[in-house]
Amino acid sequence: MEWNWTLLQLAVSCQLLYVFIKAWQWYKLRGVPPGPTGLPFVGYAAFLGTNPQDKLLELSKTYGKIFSLYMGPQLAIILNDFSSIQAALKGQSDRFAGRSRDFVFRRLALEADGKSHGITFHDGEVHKRARRFTIQTLKEIGLNRSSTHEKILREIGLLLMTFADHRGAPFDPLYPITVCCCNAACVVCYGRQFDRGDPEFVEYLRGTELGSKVIAQANGFQSGYPMLRFLPSVMFPLWSRILETTRINRRFIHQQVMEHRASFVEGEVRDYTDAFLRGERRIVKNGLSAEDAFADEELSQNLRGLIQGGTGTTAVTLQWMMLFMVNHPEVQKWIHRELDQHVERLDLVRASDRANLPYVEAVVCEVQRMANITPFGLLRTNTKETTLLGYRIPTRSFILPNFASINGDPALWAEPGEFKPERFLDLVGKLQKPQHFLPFSLGKRSCVGQSFAQTELFLVFSNIMHRFSIECEDSTRPPSSTERFTDGLCHPVPFKIRAIHR
Ligand code: HEM
Repeated sequence: MEWNWTLLQLAVSCQLLYVFIKAWQWYKLRGVPPGPTGLPFVGYAAFLGTNPQDKLLELSKTYGKIFSLYMGPQLAIILNDFSSIQAALKGQSDRFAGRSRDFVFRRLALEADGKSHGITFHDGEVHKRARRFTIQTLKEIGLNRSSTHEKILREIGLLLMTFADHRGAPFDPLYPITVCCCNAACVVCYGRQFDRGDPEFVEYLRGTELGSKVIAQANGFQSGYPMLRFLPSVMFPLWSRILETTRINRRFIHQQVMEHRASFVEGEVRDYTDAFLRGERRIVKNGLSAEDAFADEELSQNLRGLIQGGTGTTAVTLQWMMLFMVNHPEVQKWIHRELDQHVERLDLVRASDRANLPYVEAVVCEVQRMANITPFGLLRTNTKETTLLGYRIPTRSFILPNFASINGDPALWAEPGEFKPERFLDLVGKLQKPQHFLPFSLGKRSCVGQSFAQTELFLVFSNIMHRFSIECEDSTRPPSSTERFTDGLCHPVPFKIRAIHR
């Protein structure tokens, strides 16, 4: 009799708990876009696969252009066409300009004062000022400045020599390209490039690459359950990677900033670090306390963001360019013809040649479209609750614009699966970029390095093509342009090329 009574009590309690959980879920998710359920604790993260952008496109056939799912404990809103991405990132650009406050992003932005800083991972007023300052500074010291242009051409010259050293034998182009791109970002940040054999630079490069891997994991469920870091690092290496990338970056950056402080000359801005120190001094000189946007910790994190943001993205884009060239010899012929018409064979291609080389630029754009290198940009959140296309978006939801949905949309591009650089040229052969071409994202968190990156991609690519024809390692087994894997950036499967001197 007593047992029956206890069992009855237990059954009623379980039912009440179930009803309470369901009511709570209903309240929390009222008005939120529909979506797949996923598993308890893990959410849908476990089902996204190696290329989440493809899986999400597939789901959009069932759930529509805007839907939701859980990534661990975190609600994520997926935007799956141009109109929804534009409505959020442009139509409500302030509201959707937040970054994630998840464990990984907070830890990466953490400085010695125990707070998060910097242009990439932070949001709010300090971010706005940091962004304004960075855009202005990149205009001042970027590729329009002849000294920056010359230093980057020198770096490209070294890259061409590395290609030539292989004398037509197969090699993987990614590492030498990455060194070149990292050094281009170093020219902006520190006014100089580093010797590719310098062990400190090699270590810095490793720290930067590790940083990209860590950022990619912020999307997964690991960042939702920070306590996983206490489990053996063989199972969850994320935590040890964060510590390692932070240690490497901090040491290198600290050394560069110290050297800049020691050699700083008033009125002479060599690079981003000098421009920041100038800003800091102006503020202190005017009798104001150093504003947050000019704190030392901000400088350190901004430098980290610029190098991190400017290395992997450009290197992987150029890696894809090599892959598309191997698979499209007919496009190489057109590129060579255009280059030979406008640039002397023994000269380097310069930024001033850009206006005469629209086909080369069109090829760059078409590779960016087809390779879809940053499939979701960098994880965003909405800073306040809002309504988007009739749905409620709770505060600090993860926002994932799926750019694959734009880049492959047949309503926006004729034959989107075909590699056709000429789609970026108008009837008289002038470069034209439609408003739905968004490799650098959109709105108030779009890439601050866009203009620099476009010129850099043009310079590196056109100079490689001016000097070489690119062929594959084995013409009977060309590398695949469609196989890929995504870890934040979308990568091709590694491959080798032959660089044949023209
Ligand atoms: C092909 C090259 C590049 C691509 C495809 C690219 C793409 C992007 C994308 C998609 C974002 C995220 C935008 C968003 O949240 O909506 C971003 C942010 C950013 N990029 Fe780039 N980027 C490139 C090169 C560069 C370069 C060369 C630099 C620096 C010199 C740079 C610095 C940054 C920074 C600092 C941010 C964070 C901006 C913020 O949060 O306000 N990027 N980039």
